[in-house]
Amino acid sequence: MKPRDHVSAAIRLALCFAAGLNLVPGLASDFQGSTHLMPFDEDLIGYGRTKDTNAVTALQGRLDAASTSLPKDAKGSLLPAILRDLGVPVASQVLVFSKTSFQRERIGPSNPRALYFNDSVYVGHVPGSPILEFTAVDPALGAVFYTLDESSVERPRFVRTDQCTECHASARTMGVPGHLVRSFETDESGVVDLLTAVDPVNHRTPLSDRWGGWYVTGRHGNQTHRGNLVGKAAFERQRVHPNHSANVTNLSRWIEPSKYLAPTSDIVALMVLEHQQHGQNFITRLGYEARLQLSAYGHVNYLRPQIDAFLRYVLLADEARLGSPISGSEEFRRAFEATGPRDAKGRSLRDLDLRTRLFVHPCSFLIQGELFGALPAPLRDRILARLDEALASVIPTDATRHIDPLQRATLREILADTVHGYPRP
Ligand code: HEC
Repeated sequence: MKPRDHVSAAIRLALCFAAGLNLVPGLASDFQGSTHLMPFDEDLIGYGRTKDTNAVTALQGRLDAASTSLPKDAKGSLLPAILRDLGVPVASQVLVFSKTSFQRERIGPSNPRALYFNDSVYVGHVPGSPILEFTAVDPALGAVFYTLDESSVERPRFVRTDQCTECHASARTMGVPGHLVRSFETDESGVVDLLTAVDPVNHRTPLSDRWGGWYVTGRHGNQTHRGNLVGKAAFERQRVHPNHSANVTNLSRWIEPSKYLAPTSDIVALMVLEHQQHGQNFITRLGYEARLQLSAYGHVNYLRPQIDAFLRYVLLADEARLGSPISGSEEFRRAFEATGPRDAKGRSLRDLDLRTRLFVHPCSFLIQGELFGALPAPLRDRILARLDEALASVIPTDATRHIDPLQRATLREILADTVHGYPRP
């Protein structure tokens, strides 16, 4: 073993130990503890050789056909035009300063990476870097990665980059090419302390464990979190004064806001992002599993425990409860709530509660999305049937115990109106 191998073996051991301490919320139950890397590049899934079809390839297609163009802004950046074209709200901006990306040298507390997202694409931008980063949510493949070099382009070109799976496909992404959100204590320059890792982060993660290495703007009452804490001293101070760096609405003590498209790293955008990205990884994993099982056995019966775990995720069964109301960017809220379908009575799975929980109706909007819709039909139909069974049952299940009977009936109505293939009551 080379000395470096010793170090990485020690880190791996430390991470396993952390997992044993259950710092990985809910992950063990999602796939019965089995989040090993799936054989996604082998024949059946063929990740690397399968043609990608998603929001980014569609934009490239429009550029090639000259049916759209991407004008540079006053600073010579394509970012605003790209976000506009992809339908990604600027108000979805969140800022991460931990040195955790492939552009880690350029990232730090005074120059965080900005991420923007909607349901179908995530965009990363580090001020000063000509490389824009994209993960598209590809209905057939899960997450697909692209870069775009702003400096070299006459005609902008998105380049698919499968090497990103070095970090973006591991146990932290449920063993498939996927999205990442993590939370660490960092030093003054943004280098993470691996022993403090909480990942993956999703709606189950208590707020007190979230956002280490991230900036957070918005109000959250007396709930604590790890955001806006730069360096060990800040973490120490927070242990004594829990509301240190909390309820922040202005980031100018850490960053130069004019370098970014928005002055915010919105708390509500962060919470939606965390729910969404883990859910998308989960759907991708289920889809890959289903394809393998359909090919081996011709059915998906063996996926029953995983389907039940997915229903708990979709119905937000283990969601971290909010101790005080949350408020963030009204602009993000408006953009997010306006996007999805509404039922005959005007209700939407995207209506945000933000008083005791994230959503008014505790069922994920991901069930209405393209990624879920593209699952192999036997799996998709099974999930929808079991979802309806669980909601219709008089005796609550693990997935529905937290939802009162009236709310369950409401959910069935919304789902029947807005999800293709959902059984009509
Ligand atoms: C060294 C590890 C590493 C590599 C390599 C890496 N990323 Fe990431 N990426 C991360 C981490 C960790 C996050 C979560 C946010 C954070 O902590 O910075 C992330 C988040 C992202 C996000 C935000 C949404 C999402 O899908 O998770 C995008 C977009 C992204 N990366 C694009 C890329 C692209 C494109 C590449 C390849 C060109 C790439 N990344 C390579 C570590 C990496």
